Amino acid sequence: MERRELLRLLASAGALPLLAPLARAAGTDDWQAQYETSGAVWKIGFATPPDDMPPTRATVRGRFPDAVAGTLFRIGPAGHDLGGERYHHWFDGDGMVHRLAIEGSDVRHEGRYVATPKRVAEVKAGRRLFEAFGTMPPGVEPPTSADSINVANTSVLPMQGEVLALWEGGSATRIDARTLDTLGLKTWRADLAGMPFSAHPKVDPDGTVWNFGVSSGQGLLALYEIGSEGTLRRAAVVPVADMPMVHDFAVTERHLVFLMPPLVYDGKRKEVGASFLDAHVWRPELGMRALVVDKQNWERRQLLALPAGFLFHVGNAWEEVTPRGTLIHVDYVRSDNADSVFTSNREVMRGRRVKSTEPYLTVATLNLSTGRATQTALAQEAEFPRIDPRRVGLRHRHVVHATQIRRELPGFGAIARTDVETGRSQRFSYGAQAIVEEHVFVPDGSKPGWVLGTALDFGRKKTVLSCFAADHLGAGPVAQATLPYALPLGLHGAFVPA
Ligand SMILES: [Fe+2]
Repeated sequence: MERRELLRLLASAGALPLLAPLARAAGTDDWQAQYETSGAVWKIGFATPPDDMPPTRATVRGRFPDAVAGTLFRIGPAGHDLGGERYHHWFDGDGMVHRLAIEGSDVRHEGRYVATPKRVAEVKAGRRLFEAFGTMPPGVEPPTSADSINVANTSVLPMQGEVLALWEGGSATRIDARTLDTLGLKTWRADLAGMPFSAHPKVDPDGTVWNFGVSSGQGLLALYEIGSEGTLRRAAVVPVADMPMVHDFAVTERHLVFLMPPLVYDGKRKEVGASFLDAHVWRPELGMRALVVDKQNWERRQLLALPAGFLFHVGNAWEEVTPRGTLIHVDYVRSDNADSVFTSNREVMRGRRVKSTEPYLTVATLNLSTGRATQTALAQEAEFPRIDPRRVGLRHRHVVHATQIRRELPGFGAIARTDVETGRSQRFSYGAQAIVEEHVFVPDGSKPGWVLGTALDFGRKKTVLSCFAADHLGAGPVAQATLPYALPLGLHGAFVPA
C-alpha cells in the first residue's frame, strides 16, 4: 500500500460518521427508576460510585505470597448514571481505574475515574452530552471524533511506568501508575491520532506489543506493532468485508489470529440513529471467519471458516508444523449467538437478570496448509480467559477463567483452571452471594504460580481480592483481602510485580 493512500485511509478512519442521533422524548426514560426500585440482591455491582475512591486499607486473612507483591490494576465501567439518566448497557459507563497494592498482609485499594474529555464535559454539564456504545441518550450531539465518546473503561496495559486505559473505539488513555492521574490520550504517531486501539493487546515473550483497531464505518482493521520500549514500529490498515465486532485476538510465533463473529456493522442503521451496538446485525450465513495475518508481512493473509458463533475473548493461540500441515490452535470463549451483548449485558442496568446463550471454552484448529478449520467445545462454561503471560503465542496447557452460570444471578460464581488439552478442570466456587470478576495468572519462577483476582460479595456489600495456588485452586484462597465497600463489577486487569 502506498504511504499516501495509507495516510488517507488512516485519516478518514479516525473520524466517526457524523450522525444525527434519534432524540428520545424527554421523560420516557425510566431506567434509573427501574434500577432504584429493582429488588435484585446483586444490583450493587452496577451502582455508580459518586466520586473517586481514596486510598483505603483492606482487612487481610492470610498472607499474600511474595510473587504477588505488587499491584493489580483493574478497570471497568463505573459511571453508569448522570443527572438522573441511566445508561442502557453495562459497557457504556465512564471507566474507573483501580489499584490494588499488595504486600504480604497489607492490601490497599484506590479507585479513580478516568478523566476522559467526555466525562469531564458531561460532569460539568450535569447530563449526558454524547452517545455511548449501547445507548443514545436524548438530545446528544453527534460525536466530533471517536475520542469525543471514549470512556476508557475496558482494559489496562501497563507500559513504561504508565498504565494505558483502553477502550476499543478510540485512543488509549495515559494514566500515571502511581497517582492514577489522567495524563491524556496516547498518540503512537502523529498521523495515527484518534485511531482505534483495541482493549486486548498481546505482549510477546520478548516484550513486543501487538494490537489492532476496528474502524467499522470504513471497513478497516488497523494493525500495530510496538517495541518493548513503547515506541511504534509499524502500523497499517487492512480492508475487511462485512466488518464484524472484534473485541480480542491472538498471536502465535508467526501470526496474528482474528476470529471474526458474524455480528456485522451496518452503517445504514447508524445513519438512522442506532447506537454503535444496535448498528450491528447477526448474519450467521457468514460463519465465523478466521483471519490469519503473517506477523512479518501483513500483506500475507489467509481466511478460514468456522461455524457461526460469537466471542468476546480469546485465551491463547500457538502453532506447530505437523505431517497434516501447519496448524494453529486457538482457544476462545464461544457462544452460539450474540444475544448476551444485546440482552443480559443490557438488562442488568435496570436490575433485571435475563439469561442468554452460555459461553463455553472452545479449542479451534486452523490448518493453514489445507485451509480447513475445526473446533471442539470443552464442557466448561467460561469467560475472562487468562493464561501465563510467559506463554503468549506459545504452547500452553492451562487457562484460568470464570465459570458457573447461575439462573438467578448475572455473571459467574466460580473461578476455574482448565487444561485445554485434556479438558480437566478444577474450580473454586465463591458461593451463592458472590459474582466473580477476572482472575489473572501470576508466575512464580519455575513453581506452579498463583491465581489472583477479585469477586463481589453482594451479600456483605464488599469486594474481595483472593490469591490461590494455581495447582490447588479447589483448596480455596491462601490469602484474601476484604475491602470495606463494594466496587462496581469491572472488566479486565493486569498485575505488575513490585
Ligand atoms: Fe474484554
